[in-house]
Amino acid sequence: MIRGGRIVDPGGSHPADVLIQDGVITSVTATVGSVPAGTVVLDASGCLVTPGLVDLHTHLREPGREEAETVETGSRAAALGGYTAVVAMPNTEPAMDSAAVIRQVQHLGASALCDVHPAGAITVGREGRMLAPMAEMAALGVRIFTDDGSGVQDSRLMRRAMEYASALGVTLAQHCEDASLAGGGHMHEGEWSSRLGLAGQPAEAEELMVMRDLALARLTGAKMHFLHLSTARSLAMIRGAKHSGLAVTAEVAPHHFTLTDECVATYDSVYKVNPPLRTAGDIEAVKEALADGTADAIATDHAPHTAEAKEAPFDQAPPGMLGLETALGLALTELDLPAERVFALMSWQPAAIAGLSAGHGGPVEAGRPANLCVVDPDEMWTVDPSASASRSRNNPYAGRKLRGRVRHTVLHGEPVVIDGEAQR
Ligand code: DOR
Repeated sequence: MIRGGRIVDPGGSHPADVLIQDGVITSVTATVGSVPAGTVVLDASGCLVTPGLVDLHTHLREPGREEAETVETGSRAAALGGYTAVVAMPNTEPAMDSAAVIRQVQHLGASALCDVHPAGAITVGREGRMLAPMAEMAALGVRIFTDDGSGVQDSRLMRRAMEYASALGVTLAQHCEDASLAGGGHMHEGEWSSRLGLAGQPAEAEELMVMRDLALARLTGAKMHFLHLSTARSLAMIRGAKHSGLAVTAEVAPHHFTLTDECVATYDSVYKVNPPLRTAGDIEAVKEALADGTADAIATDHAPHTAEAKEAPFDQAPPGMLGLETALGLALTELDLPAERVFALMSWQPAAIAGLSAGHGGPVEAGRPANLCVVDPDEMWTVDPSASASRSRNNPYAGRKLRGRVRHTVLHGEPVVIDGEAQR
């Protein structure tokens, strides 16, 4: 039983107690009188009780890079961050480009602390040359395909992938980066890259691929999702495409509404990420896109890297930063949006994009699977990377004060996080 909280779900907001049995919500009522002996009671006073968060963009690193993260450690970080489902990116070793690797990740996910949905690669080995066997992966339930980590460069191949995806009824998610234009760039190309003497990648490297894929989506009618968009003009193009009736969706990452390229002045590789941190103007555009519906989701791009890898000089370190445990706090603290909007962007809208609405994203009502998150919207806390459940420590928010913290997370009726502590 979750007692004393305020339900926030796609239908609105109201105070209620939630009773759960055998993984399913059995009642949502103003006040439950007596409860059966032995009932586990989670205190939600002062808290919001919402459908569990859904992350469209998590790197769990397994198989192949277990020194940075595993399905188990990454899913524990996810549960602590309020997530009950994550989409696992396919840039593992080997890549998730076959039924065998998809099955392996699904098997690992079966005992994880959140639901793990592998994304399939669009091309074999994510090499951009040959289409991967998408149908055999779709037959295993894969609903999102991407070469994330890189974009599909070849326009003809991307068109074929879209036609193939349309026939299969799945969504393609693009990491928008024109490799020839971005190649060799370690940060956003602009005033700071000049000052710091670091090779930059221009905003246009992202924008050209957004432009191309919008054109191809128009041509093929494919369902396209745009990953981690970071520039004002990328978002303006998505806004225009949506106005013209194109069925595309887009996500943005917390670091693109909280950090700018000026952070790189420390030469600390914790600020190296792809797409790179942009300008203050881009941050404003990302916030505007979240406010006006141009961006459909906040996705973490949780990208663990070992301390050894990140100790390399800025131009040699791998891009990526952690995100699962800080995303909700950053959104509640830094965005001037009502909590209901934040949960729409982090729970039910991403659940719909990933095809997970049957199990995740609410509504919180009797008969629904009990995948829930209880959040104290007023709790102040300080980010401490050493306290993370992740195997990695590349967290750019050390010492940052945030308002809003996950108190409990319930997965299929099991409390996997109680009072901010993972239960296994
Ligand atoms: O910063 C990033 N890190 N961007 C990506 O696209 C890939 C990711 C990773 O896998 O480390």
